[in-house]
Amino acid sequence: MKLIKPSVEFKGSFLYAVEAFAAEGNAHFFKNPVVEENFEHYCETLIGYETGIGLPEGYVDETILWMVDNDQYIGNISIRHWLTDNLLKTGGHIGYIIAPNQRKKGYGTKILELGLFEALRFGMNKVLVTCDKNNTASIKIIERNKGKFENEMYSEHARVWKRRYWIDL
Ligand SMILES: CC(C)(COP(=O)(O)OP(=O)(O)OC[C@H]1O[C@@H](n2cnc3c(N)ncnc32)[C@H](O)[C@@H]1OP(=O)(O)O)[C@@H](O)C(=O)NCCC(=O)NCCS
Repeated sequence: MKLIKPSVEFKGSFLYAVEAFAAEGNAHFFKNPVVEENFEHYCETLIGYETGIGLPEGYVDETILWMVDNDQYIGNISIRHWLTDNLLKTGGHIGYIIAPNQRKKGYGTKILELGLFEALRFGMNKVLVTCDKNNTASIKIIERNKGKFENEMYSEHARVWKRRYWIDL
């Protein structure tokens, strides 16, 4: 398994996962509606976010990578290059999601581990990772990746308490 830049090669399993994300109410992880007809353009758009091209208003540059295993799309990780006030409070540097049919196989723990290597490669030396207070799986993932708990803060936007962790790279 590895992290790659978004690629047309994984179109089938990616679109399958996106439908499942939408069905569980997680469509918001995908800033652009997925354009099936011009998937190559969609992938290029995601890649452009790394250098700030085409980002929605108020979003910081972010690197979006896909975890793939053999010929299957497994999940997404986003690494934001710096923090705004809101990201510092509750959003954090890193977000990740695993395709519903691939969960509970260790991929969530692995995607964060691989993402931390990428963050180090960009020159980051510590990252903030947050998760909902009741997200048991994500708490385990962050703590297994040496997250040091700082505190909880309330997200007005998401209307939930977020646990905030720092990870030294
Ligand atoms: C959170 C998420 C990434 C976990 O992915 P995953 O691939 O299932 O994670 P792992 O397989 O590495 O599991 C890590 C631990 O969490 C546990 N776990 C996984 N899903 C769980 C759930 N729904 N409830 C309770 N524990 C769960 C696993 O059993 C494992 O613990 P164990 O080793 O003690 O058994 C995935 O559920 C997801 O994409 N959720 C929606 C988006 C999200 O919440 N992203 C995180 C934002 S911070």
